[in-house]
Amino acid sequence: MKNQAQTEYPVQELIRERWSPRAWSEQAVSPEILRSLFEAARWAPSSNNEQPWAFVVGTKEDSETFGKILGTLVEFNQNWAKHAPVLVIAVSELAFARNGNLNRNAFYDTGAAVSQLTTEATARGLFVHQMAGFDPRKAIEAFQIANGWEPIAAFTIGYPGDPQSLPQPLRDRELAPRKRKPIAEFVMSGSWGHSAGFVKK
Ligand SMILES: Cc1cc2nc3c(=O)[nH]c(=O)nc-3n(C[C@H](O)[C@H](O)[C@H](O)COP(=O)(O)O)c2cc1C
Repeated sequence: MKNQAQTEYPVQELIRERWSPRAWSEQAVSPEILRSLFEAARWAPSSNNEQPWAFVVGTKEDSETFGKILGTLVEFNQNWAKHAPVLVIAVSELAFARNGNLNRNAFYDTGAAVSQLTTEATARGLFVHQMAGFDPRKAIEAFQIANGWEPIAAFTIGYPGDPQSLPQPLRDRELAPRKRKPIAEFVMSGSWGHSAGFVKK
C-alpha cells in the first residue's frame, strides 16, 4: 500500500514515498539487502565522525534475537511489529571514545544514520517503522549492552502488507491521511517565532 506525502512544495519521490506502515508482508529481507541498508547507515554524517551508533538486528529466521527484541516493545507495538520480518534496536555511545567527554550529538547522529537507512530502504521498496515504545532497560539486559551505550529506539524493516490484515483501530490509522505542521510554523528567521521570508504564509 502507498501512503504518499501530500507536500506543500516539490520534493524527491523517495521522500514522498516513505511512511511508517504497521501492516507487513511475510516476505523476508535478504542478507544482501540488509547489508546495503546498514551500509547506508554507515555513511551518515556524525559529529567528529564519531559514528556513535550500533544496531542489534533480529530477523524472523533468528528467532532468538527477534524474540528478545520483541520482548522489549510495549504491548501496542508488539501487536503489529511481531508480523514484520526484521526488528532492530538502535543504540548510541554517549561519550567520545577518544576522551570520554559527553557527545551531546550522539542521539542526533544515530537518528541521521537511521534516516539514511530508511532512505535506502524506501528506494528498494522496503519500509521502516521506528518506535520509542520499548523498554531500554530490558534491551540492556537482554543483549548485555555495554556500559556507556544507550538504546535509543527500536524499528521494524519489511515489505508493505495488506492494511486489511490489521485489527480495526490500527487499520483506521493505517488508512488515515498523513499530516504535518505547515513549514511557516517551524522555519524561522530574524527572531524566534517569525517565519522565514521565503516561506509563504
Ligand atoms: C523516534 C520515533 C518514535 C516512534 N515511536 C512509535 C511507536 O512507539 N509506535 C508507533 O506505532 N509509531 C511510532 N513512531 C512512528 C510515528 O508515529 C510516525 O513516524 C509519525 O506518525 C509520522 O508518520 P509517517 O512516518 O508515516 O510519516 C515513531 C517514530 C519515530 C521517528
